[in-house]
Amino acid sequence: MRKKLIAGNWKMNLTLADAYLLAGGVMKEAESFDHTKIVLCPPAVWLGLLSEHTIHTKQFPDLHLGAQNMHFKESGAYTGEISPLMVKEVAEYVILGHSERTHLFKESVAMVGEKLRSAFEHQISPILCIGEDEKVDGSIRLIIQRLNHLLAGLSTEQVESLVVAYEPVWAIGTGNPATPEYAQAVAEEIRRATSVKTRILYGGSVDLANAKGFLEQADIDGLLIGGTSLKLNDFLKICKCADDLAIENNTRYYKISN
Ligand code: PGA
Repeated sequence: MRKKLIAGNWKMNLTLADAYLLAGGVMKEAESFDHTKIVLCPPAVWLGLLSEHTIHTKQFPDLHLGAQNMHFKESGAYTGEISPLMVKEVAEYVILGHSERTHLFKESVAMVGEKLRSAFEHQISPILCIGEDEKVDGSIRLIIQRLNHLLAGLSTEQVESLVVAYEPVWAIGTGNPATPEYAQAVAEEIRRATSVKTRILYGGSVDLANAKGFLEQADIDGLLIGGTSLKLNDFLKICKCADDLAIENNTRYYKISN
């Protein structure tokens, strides 16, 4: 069974004091979620400090840190960028290809592909974002074409270990999420293009009221949450919901396979 994964993308938010408060609040509850991985993605400047309390203590095996982006090169004259060697010291995951990177900072699909390969080379787990700009006929086909292009050259093991976040651009930060059924239809195609082991997340205006609907879908293994990941109580309740569903699924699976 695929463990659920709830990732919080804090984007460019929170002072250091607030980042400590939020991460500390998640840490307090982290051990109660046995069937769910949690990945917090704070701004890069807070990663080193937070890692001292999380991944470096090894106290919370299912609580991880993720970077929101990285360069594919190991070092060089790239002002303002962070390299995989740097990310690797303070985080286990990295979000790649987020639409805010591709739209606002003009990252190309080719660049995202380079970052993806670089993440694997450096043993950083990529959370690869993919999604259509507008909901029009044929958008699922375009998503899968782009995904296939990005996956070309990856090994079976790499594809299996990948986390793909389906994030329709029209749903990000708009308060207008996809329906769970539509997200499942896309996730099903992503599953076909990847593997039974690949983790597929939904992201885009996820909140406490709609999270369960997505988590109940057969091919959706978790969520990539922006705005709501900054609200400690809502975020924890969503993690609890994911964990409860994972326990239910495991029980059902156990009964079927025995
Ligand atoms: P949102 O952002 O939950 O605020 O819509 C999601 C994301 O950008 O990953």
